Amino acid sequence: MADDANAIEAALEARFGARIKVDPELPGLGELARIAGHRSHRTFTKQAIEPDLLRLLCACALSAPSKSDLQQCDIVVVTDAAIRRGIVATIPDMPWIMDAPAFRLFTGNGARLKALAKLRGKPFPNDHLDQFFNAAVDAAIVMTTFIRAAEAAGLGCCPISAVRDHPRTVSDLLRLPERVIPVAGLCVGWPARDGEITPRLSLETTVVENAYGERDLAAEIDAYDRRRAQRLPYRRQRDVAHWGEASFYGWSEDKARQYGVPTRTGFGAFVRGKGFGLD
Ligand SMILES: Cc1cc2nc3c(=O)[nH]c(=O)nc-3n(C[C@H](O)[C@H](O)[C@H](O)COP(=O)(O)O)c2cc1C
Repeated sequence: MADDANAIEAALEARFGARIKVDPELPGLGELARIAGHRSHRTFTKQAIEPDLLRLLCACALSAPSKSDLQQCDIVVVTDAAIRRGIVATIPDMPWIMDAPAFRLFTGNGARLKALAKLRGKPFPNDHLDQFFNAAVDAAIVMTTFIRAAEAAGLGCCPISAVRDHPRTVSDLLRLPERVIPVAGLCVGWPARDGEITPRLSLETTVVENAYGERDLAAEIDAYDRRRAQRLPYRRQRDVAHWGEASFYGWSEDKARQYGVPTRTGFGAFVRGKGFGLD
């Protein structure tokens, strides 16, 4: 108990740069310690994962809450190596996706709800952005719950939003029906390394009491950049040929560079083409 409490305090200090006191008598400390110590994994041992365990993780993931109990997320189990190669070919800078013992794709499925309307002879007037949003949010919650379950079993995961770089190709490879869109892929395996805790913005920045107020965002970001650089400095600068070499390279510089070039600009057209209304 005290060990778990200490582990949580240490993990959260690494994450947020502040000590958060944990009562060693609190129930559920083991689970909290795993959540606090989360890290994405991108290198795995060659050990396979038992199919029964993967199925159990799917069942746990799909036990997550679902908006209005609409159940608009599916998990695509990608076991065909040729299909996975086809997906990885659309993401040339992440070849390691191929090395993960298991790969799953979480989809937002807006097809079933529309089918229910037809089956029950009802109109379907709510084909607008909220419908798409609900399906995407459900998929994100199911994926997160899958990660939680996998980490509880000692596995490591890495979500892959890059499956949306070329969504049409991914959709064709997996024969995603109308109104079913890829939200994220997920690499799953037994971690080859311990991995590291990625520091986050301070709780003063991201936890808001009652209402948003005036902030010195630049100072908060600067403090985070420096805290993060001390703990987990970037190993290389993004696209130096385009942006030049920065004397100090922090999180804000990296994210500004990342979002300083257009990406996935065709995703809206893809989603509309799949039959979702986005207005
Ligand atoms: C929806 C989502 C999509 C992500 N997509 C990718 C991806 O395409 N490639 C990748 O290497 N990591 C991806 N990640 C992992 C993030 O980079 C990672 O969560 C972040 O750097 C924080 O690290 P941590 O998870 O270890 O705390 C994704 C994470 C989420 C939640």
